[in-house]
Amino acid sequence: MQIAETFAPAAPAPAVEDVARAALAGLSQPQKSLPPWLFYDARGSELFEAITLLPEYYPTRTEAAILESAAGDIAAGARPGGVLVEFGSGSSRKTEILLNALPSLCAYAPIDVSRSALDDAVARLALRFPQLRVIPTVGDFVAPLALPGRFAGHPRLGFFPGSTIGNFAPAEARDLLAHMAQTLGPRSRLVIGVDLRKDLSILLPAYNDSAGVTAAFNLNILARLNRDAGADFNLDRFVHSAVFNAAEGRIEMHLVSIEPQRVTIMGRSFDFAAGESIHTENSYKYSIPQFEDLAHRAGWTPHRVWTDRDRMFSLHELVIKS
Ligand code: SAH
Ligand code: AVI
Repeated sequence: MQIAETFAPAAPAPAVEDVARAALAGLSQPQKSLPPWLFYDARGSELFEAITLLPEYYPTRTEAAILESAAGDIAAGARPGGVLVEFGSGSSRKTEILLNALPSLCAYAPIDVSRSALDDAVARLALRFPQLRVIPTVGDFVAPLALPGRFAGHPRLGFFPGSTIGNFAPAEARDLLAHMAQTLGPRSRLVIGVDLRKDLSILLPAYNDSAGVTAAFNLNILARLNRDAGADFNLDRFVHSAVFNAAEGRIEMHLVSIEPQRVTIMGRSFDFAAGESIHTENSYKYSIPQFEDLAHRAGWTPHRVWTDRDRMFSLHELVIKS
């Protein structure tokens, strides 16, 4: 594997100041909240990988199976000599399915806010795909990105799996998709995984697993703030909660204070009442037409969609016509 120069990210990897700034801003709101990118320090990325293997967490294995059956069609529609640009690539495990189907790729450009996840993925891909040129970027995929100049003329295929788009509210999701269209450029394509609406008997256990891995993932955000933002959260005084908000069509994860308490971050105090929560994540669930409408409003044309037999998860291919 050759590691070429990285993208020029407008925002570099999150520094300690970014973590503290994000935490102070979110905890100052009437409904205290934290942005979900804070989940993904090294431990958070490890816990997310553990979630993907849970029997209750259907999205990863379902999307992988859809991708296995769609990869040939995706490859047949892709222009040769392209760059595969992946947003929020994490372990890049599902990417291997696409990489196997796209032997004529010129380069793979994974972007992730988690340095440890990216480092592990790059090391593994070096062994599995020794000929592949990899251009990793640690950074925020919400910020503008520019491909190194010498890839300027190459076709771009975007990949945004995992239903990470569901972690953004619809208006932000539309802006993010529009921004990806700009990053990828004219005549590009985006293959994106989107979790679907379904019965709560399946949905709720996926975010309340019996082994408590999702609870550990949620609570780890407080451990990160203690380490990186000088906070003094007592992790035994908060509990994980995941509920479905039917009006908004989303799973919400919260950390609920079990008693009245005061927490200090960088010299600022935050008071919690018993039962008061920090809202840590939304995970929107779409219908296929709802997502296609969102993509359309972001400037993409829905081209093809694949789903599993039980219609649990969807994989969309979006195109930019001009
Ligand atoms: N694509 C993988 C991982 C999904 S988990 C999969 O489908 O299994 C979400 C990933 O997005 C994590 O690796 C996290 O570090 C990354 N991420 C979340 N918000 C991000 C942001 N704003 N910028 C860059 N990466 C982000
Ligand atoms: C990354 N993202 C799409 C996951 C989700 O399902 O919303 C993160 C996650 N949160 C709890 N479990 C998994």
